[in-house]
Amino acid sequence: MSSPIPDNELSRGALPKHIAIIMDGNGRWAKARGKARMFGHKAGVESVRKTVSAANRLGIQVLTLFAFSSENWRRPQEEVNLLMELFVTVLGREVKRLHKNGVRLRVIGDTSRFSRSLQEKIARAEDLTKNNTRLVLNVAANYGGQWDITQSVKKLAEQVACGELDPSTLTEGDIAVHLSTAGLPDVDLMIRTSGECRISNFILWQAAYAELYFTEEFWPDFNEKSLSNAIAWYINRERRFGCTGEQIQAMLETEN
Ligand code: IPE
Ligand code: IPE
Ligand code: MG
Repeated sequence: MSSPIPDNELSRGALPKHIAIIMDGNGRWAKARGKARMFGHKAGVESVRKTVSAANRLGIQVLTLFAFSSENWRRPQEEVNLLMELFVTVLGREVKRLHKNGVRLRVIGDTSRFSRSLQEKIARAEDLTKNNTRLVLNVAANYGGQWDITQSVKKLAEQVACGELDPSTLTEGDIAVHLSTAGLPDVDLMIRTSGECRISNFILWQAAYAELYFTEEFWPDFNEKSLSNAIAWYINRERRFGCTGEQIQAMLETEN
């Protein structure tokens, strides 16, 4: 018998607890306006602000935003540098407001590749907001789903090597415990803007049963209404977790 379906996850009409967003299309948005790609990244910051505030207002528990992937280092050096600068500026500018609004900010990803000063800024922002109890905002920076699983497996391998862990007892739960999102609910709804229908090595393990929502809108055009549309679509999905539709209906009936 496999593990039971987690509480609450079937209830139709329930809000997603965890929303993850691949914020894509900044470059094309800028190009369509005859501007440099960076203009799109800057415009995208406004969409981040709107989305975070809407998610917080709606009572979403966790929002994970893909800001910079493990693969984005492959971009022209100038774009990478400017993106890092933008990250520093936005972090400096927004942290107080996030804190005031009860948001707990976390940066997930391999931050060791960032400059010392950016790492310090991140640590200070996480520390300032660590006791906040409203929205958990994960900013995925130098993040890759494969990196996340690998770093978890490395920790387990170390435990095996020093005799603390018996490999024959390993479970999915052991892997989850060391992921960067440990302790948070899995992703219910994953959104990608800009019309691309791929995951691009975003949060892989945690999105194993996420509903995937793709919209043609470029990220700088994404706003509160776009988020509500995605949530409205999600609410009408029938999540089955491997069961049949009939089983789900029966479970919903006993729930009500
Ligand atoms: C997403 O927009 C932002 C980052 C990856 C940092 P893009 O920069 O990928 O925009 P497009 O896909 O080139 O339009
Ligand atoms: C994914 O977008 C990464 C972020 C949104 C930060 P990309 O634009 O980098 O993805 P690909 O390269 O088109 O798959
Ligand atoms: Mg892109």
